[in-house]
Amino acid sequence: MSGDGLVVSGITKSFGDNRVLDGIDLEIAAGSIVATLGPSGGGKTTLLRIIAGFLDADGGSVTLDGNPLVTNGRGIAPQRRGIGYVPQEGALFPHLDAASNIAFGIRGKAGRGFDVDAMMALVGLDPVLKSRHPHELSGGQQQRVALARALAPRPSMVLLDEPFSSLDAGLRVETGKAVVRALRAAGATAILVTHDQDEALALADRVAVMRDGRVAQLATPIDLYRQPADPAIASFVGSVVVLPAMVAGGTAKSPLGAHEVRPGGPQGAVKILVRPEQVVLDRSCAVGPKARVEDVAFFGHDATVRLRLVDNCLELDARVLGRDLPRIGDVVGVSVRGDVAVFAEEHPS
Ligand SMILES: Nc1ncnc2c1ncn2[C@@H]1O[C@H](COP(=O)(O)OP(=O)(O)O)[C@@H](O)[C@H]1O
Ligand SMILES: [Mg+2]
Repeated sequence: MSGDGLVVSGITKSFGDNRVLDGIDLEIAAGSIVATLGPSGGGKTTLLRIIAGFLDADGGSVTLDGNPLVTNGRGIAPQRRGIGYVPQEGALFPHLDAASNIAFGIRGKAGRGFDVDAMMALVGLDPVLKSRHPHELSGGQQQRVALARALAPRPSMVLLDEPFSSLDAGLRVETGKAVVRALRAAGATAILVTHDQDEALALADRVAVMRDGRVAQLATPIDLYRQPADPAIASFVGSVVVLPAMVAGGTAKSPLGAHEVRPGGPQGAVKILVRPEQVVLDRSCAVGPKARVEDVAFFGHDATVRLRLVDNCLELDARVLGRDLPRIGDVVGVSVRGDVAVFAEEHPS
């Protein structure tokens, strides 16, 4: 379970005229977890199936820990790849209990020493659930059984296809954390496919954003959120307002005032990116341009305040803590805390 990890290079795939993958490049260090984030229909499952060996590509290569799995689009048999696969809908065998599901891929010599209890402990499942059938398990428990089954043959890599999408919000976080703990304990390299940006940011070491059949950006969650490669990626990984600004030296001037920018970026006319949590409201109206409160969405722990600048009608959101909320119709001063990401003007937003 050590070595180079996964290297995907120039993978292409069309179904008829539909070019789903248009040159996927992706490197995943051994033992690390990459979330692949993309819209529904964006080719995420297709990519996993090519890596796992259930589907040929049209071109490109895949190596795992230095071993070629796919060359010029074609590859070795799935069972020789050392890859565990957790398909989109869990896909446990309904007629087998949890223990038999987990041990399903273990045969021969490996089977004799195989410890189902240890595998259940690894994924955080109580061993009393061993004799339950899938329909007697909760959604989260079923996902953990599916992961245990994928990990049982000790694969060097595990592919998880939207493993939490059928779970409700509370269970999703808890199951996600348990799955990540198990992957780390097993030392497996992993791809976690998701269309949920919160899940990608919370669980993965790095996030690969897929767009138009390519990896548009591969970065740590923090870098992706704070330094997205373009405005479209910025809005894909969270709420954002994009504003025109002028940069001179280390300062950008926008309708919201002056902001610090990181050195080395473009100068002159740019777009800047402001996240709602950077927007500060001043109830006394002493600081910054004035904005009218258009709407307040209260979430308990915090709230989103919809604002419209009085001078130029520009709209933006502020995220504020759930105490001392402004009311609809209030006028407040608006400013931005922290530095802002800057894009040259030509990027589409
Ligand atoms: N076997 C197939 N035959 C034809 N089209 C397919 C096949 N598998 C997937 N597609 C198409 O490829 C595109 C990407 O699908 P998929 O990889 O499942 O996306 P995602 O998992 O990101 O939602 C979709 O337009 C889908 O309809
Ligand atoms: Mg899919």
